[in-house]
Amino acid sequence: MIILIVFHVLVHCLLVQVEANCKTGCSLALASYYVRRGSNLTYISTIFNKPIPEIIIYNPHVSNPDEIDAGTRIDVPFTCDCLNGEFLGHTFDYFTQFGDTYDTVASNTYANLTTEDWVRRVNVYDYTRIPDHVTINVTVNCSCGDRHVSRDYGLFSTYPIRSGEDLSVIAAEANVSVELIRRYNPGVDFTAGSGLVFVPAKDQTGNFPPLKTR
Ligand SMILES: *[C@@H]1O[C@H](CO)[C@@H](O)[C@H](O)[C@H]1NC(C)=O
Ligand SMILES: *[C@@H]1O[C@H](CO)[C@@H](O)[C@H](O)[C@H]1NC(C)=O
Ligand SMILES: *[C@@H]1O[C@H](CO)[C@@H](O)[C@H](O)[C@H]1NC(C)=O
Ligand SMILES: *[C@@H]1O[C@H](CO)[C@@H](O)[C@H](O)[C@H]1NC(C)=O
Ligand SMILES: *[C@@H]1O[C@H](CO)[C@@H](O)[C@H](O)[C@H]1NC(C)=O
Repeated sequence: MIILIVFHVLVHCLLVQVEANCKTGCSLALASYYVRRGSNLTYISTIFNKPIPEIIIYNPHVSNPDEIDAGTRIDVPFTCDCLNGEFLGHTFDYFTQFGDTYDTVASNTYANLTTEDWVRRVNVYDYTRIPDHVTINVTVNCSCGDRHVSRDYGLFSTYPIRSGEDLSVIAAEANVSVELIRRYNPGVDFTAGSGLVFVPAKDQTGNFPPLKTR
């Protein structure tokens, strides 16, 4: 009997956790886009449906918008929405090209800001037959902060970890402590050389904007 009650309580807790994941999003998050050779702002502007001048604001290191350096990252601003009340993310419209697969779209086009599995789940097309020249959904996760961790950070970058990068490199780049990044990303394996982390980011004034109280 007691076991049964404990079981019911456990199931109830699990269900509640699954349901109540987000109520609202936030107007700004950043996508940390790794620039490959041959990539340019026109292309980045197209795939993120964002005008170049709006992107430039968050990238003071870019001196020449016509030529961005391969191997650097561009922070692309986007709105972080509460999707289906379930999780924080944003769905970008992507116009498919000949030869695209959900895997190449996630790992090449969107530079691992999402995964094949995550893209596949938000599109009706069978993964073996994605039509050319159609619009598909590409969903990128995001964060609006967490008052249980800190109220000092209200803007976050969705940052795909690249092979060879570890937590200390990411923390140093963001100018925050390793401990802080860990607390915002419970359960993330920082030694895997892949996966997403949410990293506190500076706004266009060069400061970390605090968490907005709602
Ligand atoms: C920008 O990048 C796209 C995709 O890589 C490429 O097709 C296009 O020619 C490039 N444009 C310029 C001006 O380099
Ligand atoms: C995405 O991840 C894959 C596998 O780790 C890697 O081969 C690829 O170069 C990454 N893409 C970018 C643009 O970093
Ligand atoms: C995005 O978030 C959802 C919900 O937390 C998770 O299930 C999914 O794996 C995440 N997607 C990526 C690409 O990390
Ligand atoms: C994209 O997502 C919207 C909203 O969930 C859905 O109505 C639409 O069918 C999706 N597009 C594709 C190509 O699956
Ligand atoms: C990094 O943060 C420290 C304080 O936490 C500050 O003194 C320093 O100026 C910052 N460095 C950069 C490059 O923003």
